[in-house]
Amino acid sequence: MNIVLLGAPGAGKGTQAARLVSEEGLCHISTGDILRAAVKNETELGKKAKEYMDAGELVPDELIIDLMRERIQQPDTEKGVILDGFPRTTTQAVALDGMLNELGRPLDVAILIDVDPEVIVKRLSSRRMCRACGAIGTEADGASCKACGGEMYQRDDDNEKTVRNRLEVYEKSTSPLIDYYRGCELLVSIDGDRDPDEVYADVKAAL
Ligand code: AP5
Repeated sequence: MNIVLLGAPGAGKGTQAARLVSEEGLCHISTGDILRAAVKNETELGKKAKEYMDAGELVPDELIIDLMRERIQQPDTEKGVILDGFPRTTTQAVALDGMLNELGRPLDVAILIDVDPEVIVKRLSSRRMCRACGAIGTEADGASCKACGGEMYQRDDDNEKTVRNRLEVYEKSTSPLIDYYRGCELLVSIDGDRDPDEVYADVKAAL
């Protein structure tokens, strides 16, 4: 099963992907996580991506497509993938179709997690992530990760100004993918402004 998780920043893509990984054993590929690791490790990709990420802009298509072409061919993707944060432009979506067709593993579903932008601004200002294991939580969870005890931190791009720019970028560059996947008859839209368990029940039903 190959799944694209679509949705604005903070819609809950990473939260739902983590559940699918633990219950369905699918391979989770988050371009945001890959890029943040590249920035942390100061790789060539990280040096090129950092400025865009800090500003809430998209990293150029060619960098992302090269990165994904390599990642999607790794053996751990054979049983299926959850793509979180990719594709984000029509160019990336067309490239993804090409990659999956070459592998003989077409996309099964594109799940849109739909949340109002003002809800998102509030969510992201209180999001915290674990430096050690990447678990996603909120400010209310405290300073230590519930899963591994690691340090919880706030992402550099989770300040209100950058979040609002990320939302504008989403509207302009990524929301056209909703029509793209609707046209391919692959789109399932889910109300993401509910308890995460209720959202997850609909995600499971969409598979
Ligand atoms: P990326 O890391 O992909 O960020 P994003 O898409 O902005 O998404 P987020 O990770 O912020 O949110 P999410 O939907 O996963 O929400 P989460 O589950 O954490 O990308 C970062 C940057 O990298 C981009 O800006 C860009 O520069 C670059 N980039 C990445 N991919 C790229 C690409 N393909 N092309 C070009 N550039 C790219 O949840 C958020 C919060 O809400 C958490 O605190 C969570 O606990 C809470 N929450 C989740 N669900 C619920 C719920 N149902 N109710 C209440 N709270 C909830």
